[in-house]
Amino acid sequence: MAISRLLLHFILLLLLRAFALLPTQAAARSGHNPSGTDDGNHGSFSRNLLEDKPRITEEMVHGYMSNSELEIAVHTFGSRCPNISRIYSSKFVYWRTVLLFLQWVIEISDKPGKKEAEPAFKFIGNVHGDEPVGREILMHLANWLCDNYLKDPLATLIVENMHLHILPTMNPDGFALRWRGNANNVDLNRDFPDQFFSVNNDINYRQPETRAIMNWVKQEHFTASASLHGGALVANYPWDGTRDKSKYYYGCPDDKAFQYMASVYSQSHYNMSLSKEFEGGITNGAFWYPIYGGMQDWNYIHGGCFELTLEISDTKWPKAAELPVIWEHNRMSMLKIVASLIKSGIHGRIFAANTGRPIPGSVMIKGIDSKVRASNTYGDYHRMLAPGEKYEAVVASMEGFRPKATHIVLEQEAVSLDFILDPDGADGQMELLRNDCGCRCDNELFHVLEAHLWLYLLVMFVLLTFYLLFKRRTASRLLTYRHSPRRPIAV
Ligand SMILES: *[C@@H]1O[C@H](CO)[C@@H](O)[C@H](O)[C@H]1NC(C)=O
Ligand SMILES: [Zn+2]
Repeated sequence: MAISRLLLHFILLLLLRAFALLPTQAAARSGHNPSGTDDGNHGSFSRNLLEDKPRITEEMVHGYMSNSELEIAVHTFGSRCPNISRIYSSKFVYWRTVLLFLQWVIEISDKPGKKEAEPAFKFIGNVHGDEPVGREILMHLANWLCDNYLKDPLATLIVENMHLHILPTMNPDGFALRWRGNANNVDLNRDFPDQFFSVNNDINYRQPETRAIMNWVKQEHFTASASLHGGALVANYPWDGTRDKSKYYYGCPDDKAFQYMASVYSQSHYNMSLSKEFEGGITNGAFWYPIYGGMQDWNYIHGGCFELTLEISDTKWPKAAELPVIWEHNRMSMLKIVASLIKSGIHGRIFAANTGRPIPGSVMIKGIDSKVRASNTYGDYHRMLAPGEKYEAVVASMEGFRPKATHIVLEQEAVSLDFILDPDGADGQMELLRNDCGCRCDNELFHVLEAHLWLYLLVMFVLLTFYLLFKRRTASRLLTYRHSPRRPIAV
């Protein structure tokens, strides 16, 4: 395997050198100099691959983990902390890069691999091959959590109340080739479908690394995430692009929540918030410089996942000796941004009043044009919101149910808010029948019953009687149900 991978590296390297004058896609959501020639929107050929190569010398690479060393580090971590972690790759198809590197994820939680009514955060490092700091400090983060679980309150809080997924490298091929794009020389942070320009909309033409992330986001239910870059020191939030391609502040519907999250990162960082270039160490992406096909906006639009793009070191490829210091500078920020999923926002579950079962409804805030979905399994939702604000209407809805709304004052800590929705429609019996069919977990049972109509009718009769008798009791029992220590409310 290793030999064939090497051979592939070599062949691809030759091929790519032959086509070295292909236009590179674009600069960085991580360049020092957004207005410079680095900007691919101007179709600049200045960053051709041959010029790029000598910038990263053997001396610079020294001390960084190679891809196979990183793979070993991930598995070593897994065997060192088996109780609170799981190592996985894609569940159904092999999740491989162009050069067939298998990408591994570390999941950290007290119940790794199990579905729980908890939020999930993902960290992605090394999106750009020549920005390797993230992959190193993500391994520091994983090991720190393992070493400090049940010793440090923040580590314990994170392990016990959420699921943290860490993908140290999204672009191992680019790292091996010591350039920005993947092995096809495509900038992965320009390869996602874009809200304004349809150029990337055909999923079949996405790079394997991009497709892997897209499938992952659809599979898991992430509340928030961050990707790690280098070349600047700033926390960047959506939107990344504007409709007319010009540069101005263009906030997404959840602008306030994003400003809050970006500030959590920059304020806990050693000196990010002292930035002279960026006020408070945070920036709106389009205000800095617009990009298209970025991962951040795609996550927010298509995954309901609040993603930040974190530029964590002024130098893209600092000497390895500086890594422990960079980790120290970012440690509190990384822990705080992950813990913010537990410590802020509105969290709760949505239930059906008639069955008492959790339902995968969605939650909206009046005045904010975005929706957060509850999970299929537990009906739990996790809504990031800026604290210190009054929210006039928090609305839970689900097809076939009457929506319910309540107002809320969000202070500094998180609020727990459960919803119990009544089925709509005048005919209670029809409703009950429809909801039972609609529930996926009952499908098989339903088909068995279908074969025995008399039995089915009997069960329906019993259910209906049960429903009428215990309707009130169910509702009052649900009202007393609490699953978290947050300030509890149910409507
Ligand atoms: C933050 O600290 C680093 C390391 O001391 C330094 O190189 C950098 O210029 C500082 N940045 C700001 C914005 O203060
Ligand atoms: Zn980058």
